[in-house]
Amino acid sequence: MEQTIEEIYEEAVRDIDAAADEGRIQELAVIYLGRKGKVTRYLRNISQLPAQQRPEAGKRANQVKQALNQTFRDAEERLGSAASTDERLDVSLPGRIPARGRLHPVTQINQEICDIFVRLGFDIAEGPEVEKDWYNFEALNFPKEHPARDMQDTFFISDDIVLRTHTSPLQIRIMEKQAPPVRVIAPGKVYRCDSDLTHTPMFHQVEGLLVDRNVTFGNLKGILTTFVHQMFDEQTSLRFRPSFFPFTEPSAEVDILCVMCRGSGCRVCSSTGWLEVLGSGMVHPAVFENVGYDSTQYTGFAFGMGVERIAMLKYGIDDIRRFFENDYRFLAQF
Ligand code: DAH
Repeated sequence: MEQTIEEIYEEAVRDIDAAADEGRIQELAVIYLGRKGKVTRYLRNISQLPAQQRPEAGKRANQVKQALNQTFRDAEERLGSAASTDERLDVSLPGRIPARGRLHPVTQINQEICDIFVRLGFDIAEGPEVEKDWYNFEALNFPKEHPARDMQDTFFISDDIVLRTHTSPLQIRIMEKQAPPVRVIAPGKVYRCDSDLTHTPMFHQVEGLLVDRNVTFGNLKGILTTFVHQMFDEQTSLRFRPSFFPFTEPSAEVDILCVMCRGSGCRVCSSTGWLEVLGSGMVHPAVFENVGYDSTQYTGFAFGMGVERIAMLKYGIDDIRRFFENDYRFLAQF
């Protein structure tokens, strides 16, 4: 063997001391401890020594290997931290401002709607999104095979279970549990098999229900007029247009004067000057019967609106899908 292990060790320590940077340390680690390095080769050649010398030589060589490993680590640390002290810390630089989260525009509008009704004395209720046919249709006076079921583009889980197509099932769930008077709104997600500029398979509705003695269509008009004035502004005119829903009689859809053209006619209102914002009506006696309310004693009104639709009108957004693409540049505007 050309070099003794002690010679290799001394040479390595000298080289490491003289190294000027981390790159050189890495080179030296290969020269001494690499697969063909000096210490490695020395260890491999121990088998050629006379048998009595082998144990002692092996032990010493392993000690040297360990010691060098430590010396390399120390040197790396020394040279590494020397380099980083060159980068001065400028404490006068402004900090990184963390991106601040915000509520989704649909959540904001949903809260605004709920706040208005809470101020008018309504409670808030919630119910399941996976719903029985009974609550979504049957109890709301949609008999099986009734053509009005077609309007709803239902997602079926099974013959008897659907993804709720509207929040109206909450009317039934609430009245089943509670005797009149009832004054409640029910916000939540609803599902329909439909997708285009103004429809997404999931969207949000807020349902309203008020039942008591002597409730009239005049009360319905008063509450919804107050709502529209608070949601949009006091100048927003509205009209009640006769319509049909199986669970209300009479039924009315509420239109507001077009927020874009103020009635003169534009693309958004299809030149009609009006925009539909919600459905409503007086609770049908058949619905009261289904929940065990006495329809000779009680009357009530109900209404339902799409949250995205209100948000689109309020913010002038023409494609509902924007709400669900999660493009931060869009969401950050609200
Ligand atoms: N559930 C209806 C829909 O999704 C909206 C609706 C209309 C709700 C009239 C009501 C109502 O409570 O009275 O199309």
